This record gives sequence, C-alpha cells and structure tokens, in this order.
Amino acid sequence: MATTILNHPLIEHKLTIMRNKETGTKEFRQNLDEIAMLMAYEVTKGLPLKNIEIVTPICPMTGKQLVRPIILVPILRAGLGLVEGFKTIIPTAKVGHIGMARNEETLEPEEYYAKFPACLDEADVIVVDPMLATGGSACAALQNIKKRGAKYIKLACLVAAPEGIEMIEKNHPDVDLIVAALDEKLNEKGYIVPGLGDAGDRLFGTD
Ligand code: URA
Repeated sequence: MATTILNHPLIEHKLTIMRNKETGTKEFRQNLDEIAMLMAYEVTKGLPLKNIEIVTPICPMTGKQLVRPIILVPILRAGLGLVEGFKTIIPTAKVGHIGMARNEETLEPEEYYAKFPACLDEADVIVVDPMLATGGSACAALQNIKKRGAKYIKLACLVAAPEGIEMIEKNHPDVDLIVAALDEKLNEKGYIVPGLGDAGDRLFGTD
C-alpha cells in the first residue's frame, strides 16, 4: 500500500507550537487534539463506502455508508494523545489499546497490555502513535494486531524518522502509513531530530 506525508499548513503551524520546548502541557495537548482531528479527516479519505437507499424530505435517493466499523488503537502511552481528536471526528469509533515496552534483556519490543473490541477482523483499524522513531514498537504492535485477525489496517503518526517509515514499509507493506511530518533523522538516543522530545512526557507532564 502507500505512505502519505501530509505536510498540511495547519498541521505544520500547530506542530511547530508542539515542537517548541517552551510550550507547556495544556497547549501541547490542545494542539495535538486539533492536529488529530485534521489527521482523522486525511486518514479516513479512502475508506470504502456502500450504497444505501434513503428518502430525503424531497425524494428517494441512493446515499453512502461506510462499509466497515472503525476501531482506533492507540499504542500506549503516547498514542492516547491522539484518541480524543480522532473520536471527535469519528464518534462511533470503538477503541482498542495495546501497550508495548522494550524487554531490557532481549531489547525487543514486547506487548504488556492488550484489549480489543470483538469485531477487529471486520473493522477498519487505525493504529495511532505520535512518534515513529525506529519503528520497532509500531512494527511489533501491527504484527500482534494482525495475529488477532485485523485485516484492514492504517497506521497514523504525527512525526516520523526515515528509519521508522522504512521499517513499516518493509515489514508491513499491506498497511497504509499516514504521517503528518517527516523529520530528518534519529539521534544516538533514538529521539527524532528535530522532533518534539518525548511525546508521552510532554503529553502527561512527566519527565
Ligand atoms: N518517542 C518519542 O516520544 N520521541 C522521540 O523523539 C522518539 C520516540
């Protein structure tokens, strides 16, 4: 499938506020919410529709309805920051959760929490995580979601490094990847450069 880099003027404006280290928790969250709404519009652009017959106050007509239900899956914990904005635009979306953490012995990402709505295999699943750095956690999360039956999957990220995009394209060519902004590189600590720092810490006010 395809990778899309949104490069939308409103998103770039709001993302710059988020990137600024002087921006506090409240403004960071607010801008992430607003960007998530804009992303939800873009991410859902290609969803399949079916015809339905309705009657307007004027006459009968053939209208459109989404073919499948939508399930949002934030990757814990930073992915939670994108959920409200997506839900504002898609209020009927169900929400699954997946928590991925690095196993300090194997250094591989491991699932520590997962809970999904029942219809995962029939749904359009939108996995959300603000930062696509090495792509390791997102890649493992996608694999685990597929193992549970998901077939129609999109991954939506706010900021990506080229390494993360390559990882997803190589390991999950069937997943549509939508990224709001493509950054330069990863640094030696695995942070995206220029990035915005640790998205989870900035979102939840931890450090
Ligand atoms: N996760 C983050 O929160 N920020 C980065 O720059 C990379 C991974």
